[in-house]
Amino acid sequence: MRIVFHDLTVEPQPWLAQLRLAFPGADIALWQPGAAPADYALVWAPPQQLLDEQTALKALFNIAAGVDALMQMRLPPGVPIFRLDDAGMAVQMAEFVCQAVIRHYRELDPVEADARGGHWRQRKPRRRADFPVGVMGLGVLGKRVLAALKAFEFPLRGWSRTPHAIDGVRTYCGPSQWPEFLASTRVLVNLLPLTPETENILNRDTLSRLQAGGYLINVARGRHLVDADLLDLLASGQLSGAALDVFRQEPLPAEHPFWRHPLISITPHTSARTLRDESIAQIIGKISRLEAGADPHSLGGWVRTELRY
Ligand code: GLV
Repeated sequence: MRIVFHDLTVEPQPWLAQLRLAFPGADIALWQPGAAPADYALVWAPPQQLLDEQTALKALFNIAAGVDALMQMRLPPGVPIFRLDDAGMAVQMAEFVCQAVIRHYRELDPVEADARGGHWRQRKPRRRADFPVGVMGLGVLGKRVLAALKAFEFPLRGWSRTPHAIDGVRTYCGPSQWPEFLASTRVLVNLLPLTPETENILNRDTLSRLQAGGYLINVARGRHLVDADLLDLLASGQLSGAALDVFRQEPLPAEHPFWRHPLISITPHTSARTLRDESIAQIIGKISRLEAGADPHSLGGWVRTELRY
């Protein structure tokens, strides 16, 4: 068995070492141009040449939850693709979104600004019922976020392409129920995959359908959001703020107006980091099951490749 690895954003040696431990006797190497075709490839944002050279691939593993970068490339035909399936990301996403919702609801940014200015100023408690939280995207991350938010008793909404029934959550699906979902939401959490259908989905029209004082939490992809529309809606008072973890260009360029905007809080694509040990263990488990003859569709994280760019 031959496995190649290519991810320029991580230290590759621990990945190679753990793969070698799991598959003694296998040929496991960093991908080099012109290398022999592999049985399995583990990649993040690979060069097109890596994909073009694979003539014997049994599976391609994307070392991230989002497959948007890979989906824009020419893929080896018929090869099953897997993305990370939770692998420690869901709990991180839940804690991150809960803190963003609570920070907004409890007005912790202005409270802390008061404190920094030496002002002891209590604010009038707000009604939780006035802050329905709507989660776009009801996959493993969206469901985990909603389960965590439930503990804080916010009214909960969920929207996705396909129908889902989630206890304690009012769910909506498809384009026909999209306006109703937005109108029933005040704090909007974006966890959608980036596809041609969802690109620019957070725009002037959609964001202005949120309840008065709407607040945006974008933890999916920067290209979901039309930046200029967000700035306009904040300026007009239609939206009360945003917590943004992802951007059209990352790192966010120094001159971008989001950096200095008083109603926008910025984090550097950090809401749910890829955890090395969990991710390697998950991929090793899937390779072992594929080698034992498992149907790829039965393994978590299998990507429907017809969702193509
Ligand atoms: C992070 O953004 C990921 O897709 O895993």
